[in-house]
This record gives sequence, structure tokens and C-alpha cells, in this order.
Amino acid sequence: MMLRTFESWQALRGTLLTLKQQGKSIGLVPTMGNLHAGHIKLVQQARLDNDVVVTSIFVNPLQFGAGEDLESYPRTLAADQALLEDAGCDFLLSPPVTDFYPDGQQTHTRIKVPVVSEGLCGESRPIHFEGVATVVTKLLNMVGPDRAYFGKKDYQQLMVIKKLVADLCLPVAIQGVDTVRDSDGLALSSRNGYLTEKQRVIAPHLHAVLNQVAERLKATPDEWQATEVWGINQLVEAGLKPDYLEVREAETLARPRIGCCAWVILSAVHLGKTRLIDNLEVALNRSKD
Ligand code: PAF
Repeated sequence: MMLRTFESWQALRGTLLTLKQQGKSIGLVPTMGNLHAGHIKLVQQARLDNDVVVTSIFVNPLQFGAGEDLESYPRTLAADQALLEDAGCDFLLSPPVTDFYPDGQQTHTRIKVPVVSEGLCGESRPIHFEGVATVVTKLLNMVGPDRAYFGKKDYQQLMVIKKLVADLCLPVAIQGVDTVRDSDGLALSSRNGYLTEKQRVIAPHLHAVLNQVAERLKATPDEWQATEVWGINQLVEAGLKPDYLEVREAETLARPRIGCCAWVILSAVHLGKTRLIDNLEVALNRSKD
């Protein structure tokens, strides 16, 4: 099937209803566009799991704080459509902001996911996850997918979405997909395009430091707090400006407890005007506890 682009979510919903009545399963890949290999991996996974694949492209103003890059966020619809067509996506939903928030943004209902949205990126981007949770809930209601796909690069976002879907009993399976990296380890992100040549050389240190932190955690898990401090110092030495580097439990994002063996190291750094995030899951052998 050729890619069909809809601006109207109501028209897309009508088309999908017919397909659902025929018993077809639907996979949704929500994005903000400027697609790269990380997004395409989500589409490919959705293609494997479902009869019908829908991608959405919507730069959601509700999740950008004052002074963030809402205006400059790259918008590359024609190139995105070509990539989606190649990846075998069936439908693209690309609605105008006025369709999403017809009565404006100020008075719009918000979805707030407590605890898991707090700390980490929630600390320096206080309205971000409320905006994400709201737009994702709307997209899930507009499309009604069986499965929805999100990159693990935005680990905290994935946890927020899993929690909201569980709490609101939404009938959709949330699938996390592994991060795609450049050959030097830098996690793919639309914001990598903001980096200068010099900064692009420094940026992969983020992933390298996460790897070093993971090795230390495996060797001396009880020293995780000292290891966080060590990791932050390594980021600074590499020329990055850390926002945070923290170790959390992978399932809940709670602070690590003795006896839990699935941890994740999460970090955000500033590099010039660009904010980069990355994370690494760590499996620990804690059988001695
Ligand atoms: O990860 C993103 O691109 C966005 O936060 C999402 C999930 C599409 C919501 O706008």
C-alpha cells in the first residue's frame, strides 16, 4: 500500500474504522517528524507486528517550555514522507495545531502522571511530561491502535506513557524499542542536527561515560551514589555540561534498592545550545544479597 497522508484525524479515524471492522490490527508510531533511523526502526517494528501502520508527525507545543526550541524544531515533511513510504508505513497523520487544540492550549485538559514524571528531565523541564502525556493520550484516542511504539532513548517518557496507559486502562500495548546509535555511539536524535562540527566530536562522550558508569556499577553496585558523582565528573572532563546523571531502577525509576537487579543510568547534558539525553540499562548480578 502507498503512504496516505491525512491532516484530519477524523478522516483517518473513519478509514481505520473500516480496516478494524475487517479485523486488521493497527500499530501507531507517534513522532515529531524530522525522521531518522531511530524512528524508522519503530516503524519497522510496527510493520512486523501489525496489519496496518500509522505514523503521526506533530510538533506538540504543549511539551515545549518557554525558551525551548519549539520554533526552530526541524520540520521536514516531504523528506519524512519519503522515508515512511520506503519503510512501508500505510498512513501518516500530520494535523495542524488548530485541529489538535481547537479551543487553544491554555484551557485544554491536561494529563499529569505523578512521581515518574518528577525528577530527571522533569526537574529542568517541569511542563514537558504533562504535554507529552496529553498529546499521546489524544493520539491514542484518535487512532485507537492495538500497539504503540516509542524509543527507549526517551526512557523516562516511555515510563510515563506506560504508567498513564495502565492507570487510565487504555486498551493499547506500549512497546519500547532499542535506541539506534551512530557508529561512534551517539544516540540518534533530531536535535543532533543542532550540533556544530566540534560539538559533534564531543557528543559521543555521553554514551562512553554511561558505559564506564555501567562497568563500575557492575563491579561495585553498593557504591552507586559515588559512581553517580564519578560519572558527572567524567562528563565535565569530556567537555559536556551535565544536567543530571542518575542511577534508577529500570522498572519504576525509583532510586536503586539493594536486591533489585535491573537498573538504568540516565543522563542529560548541555552541549552549546543543544540538550542531549541518553541512558543505558544495566543488568546486575545481585545473587549474593
Ligand atoms: O518522542 C517524541 O517524539 C514526542 O515526545 C512524542 C512521543 C511524539 C509526543 O509528542
